[in-house]
Amino acid sequence: MNWNDYGANMNDDTSKTRKTKKPLGGYEILLCLTGGIACYKSADLTSKLVQAGAGVSVAMTDSACQFIRPLSFQALTQRPVYTSLWQSSEASSIGHLSLTESADLMIIAPATANILAKMAGGIADDLVSTLALSAFGACPIFVAPAMNERMWNAPPTQENLQRLKSRGVEVFGPGEGLLACGGVGLGRMAEPKEILHAVAGRVILHPPKSAGG
Ligand SMILES: Cc1cc2nc3c(=O)[nH]c(=O)nc-3n(C[C@H](O)[C@H](O)[C@H](O)COP(=O)(O)O)c2cc1C
Repeated sequence: MNWNDYGANMNDDTSKTRKTKKPLGGYEILLCLTGGIACYKSADLTSKLVQAGAGVSVAMTDSACQFIRPLSFQALTQRPVYTSLWQSSEASSIGHLSLTESADLMIIAPATANILAKMAGGIADDLVSTLALSAFGACPIFVAPAMNERMWNAPPTQENLQRLKSRGVEVFGPGEGLLACGGVGLGRMAEPKEILHAVAGRVILHPPKSAGG
């Protein structure tokens, strides 16, 4: 599939044709944001996923909400944005469990050093870390770390990453370049287009859960 061309059919005259030609149609992506400057890139990622036909549910940590407002993601996804474990959920389901059960893939982008440490240690003390723990065995987990180069190279961060990789978590990036702290180095969140391709390449290995896959 040529991912650069998928939008070419979006002007077809029936909405049915449009829907069937979107490469991520039927797939559910759970996108979680943690607190770093790169949160702004996740708005672009969300838009790209939605344009590719995915249903996107967004969850954010308190820190992520300091960098970008949930309203942006509500508008981009046309869905409520989850910011608390204690948000009311459907009476018959426990929100964090149903979100990971119905997701075809969970991605944390940007992923802070903090969330990587929590995931490596099995800590579930807020919505995003609880979602991450409940995603094991429910759906593939991607992380796109973003942080200052010293934080990235810090032994605890590298040890946490090794632990996560050994448990099947797929780590995407970071890249090298200009960092938010002003320096140049390794720690930039991967570009939304690259993440879209990686996510898409992974999810289409199986039919969407919504189709019984
Ligand atoms: C201006 C600013 C920028 C930050 N950028 C990052 C970052 O890019 N990566 C990171 O790991 N932490 C960053 N932090 C620190 C995290 O926000 C902090 O560790 C926080 O506790 C993360 O919480 P969360 O993982 O629950 O979102 C930044 C903090 C500030 C004040």
